[in-house]
Amino acid sequence: MHILGISGSLRAASTNTALLRATRAHLPEGPTFSILPWRDVPLYDEDHESPPAVLAVREEVRAADALIIATPEYNHGVPGGLKNLLDQLSRPAFQSVLSGKPCGLLSASPSAVGGARAQQQLRAVLASVNAPVYPANEVLVGNSSTRFTDGELTDERTLSFLQAWLAGFTTWATRIRA
Ligand SMILES: Cc1cc2nc3c(=O)[nH]c(=O)nc-3n(C[C@H](O)[C@H](O)[C@H](O)COP(=O)(O)O)c2cc1C
Repeated sequence: MHILGISGSLRAASTNTALLRATRAHLPEGPTFSILPWRDVPLYDEDHESPPAVLAVREEVRAADALIIATPEYNHGVPGGLKNLLDQLSRPAFQSVLSGKPCGLLSASPSAVGGARAQQQLRAVLASVNAPVYPANEVLVGNSSTRFTDGELTDERTLSFLQAWLAGFTTWATRIRA
């Protein structure tokens, strides 16, 4: 099984990208993991569908067995860049590479609710493309400024929660793909 990580934040010191690095380090034995580069994906324009950068990310997603999306919350919602990426991946309509792809959601934010509203919106977006989302406990890393040190997730309780979540997610995603 290959799991592809998608960060909703492009900034170099992103806590959400750090969550994906922690994911790589704490996956159970078996799956491989990589992080999708998507900085070059242009704004969706129905007059110019499928430019090369979009074809490239669609192929990476198609080749993955499961996705883990780690996202911040911007203005109580999904960051625009990530929503645009998902819109690009949703096309062609009814043939999306996201269809049937098991997804797990992570979020980190300095607020106490840890990106819960962004995750809720992501669930609705992914439902529209028939992508199943891991239904169990949500990984919401609130008060993120206290949980990361020098750009890495160092809070022991969060790390052990993430590790247990990854074990459950991997089992669930394997079953969905069977
Ligand atoms: C445009 C913008 C809007 C934001 N809105 C929210 C918000 O609604 N809720 C929240 O918890 N954090 C909000 N934040 C703070 C982000 O959660 C915070 O910057 C977070 O660390 C970004 O994730 P990253 O570390 O992965 O880049 C916002 C940040 C930006 C830049």
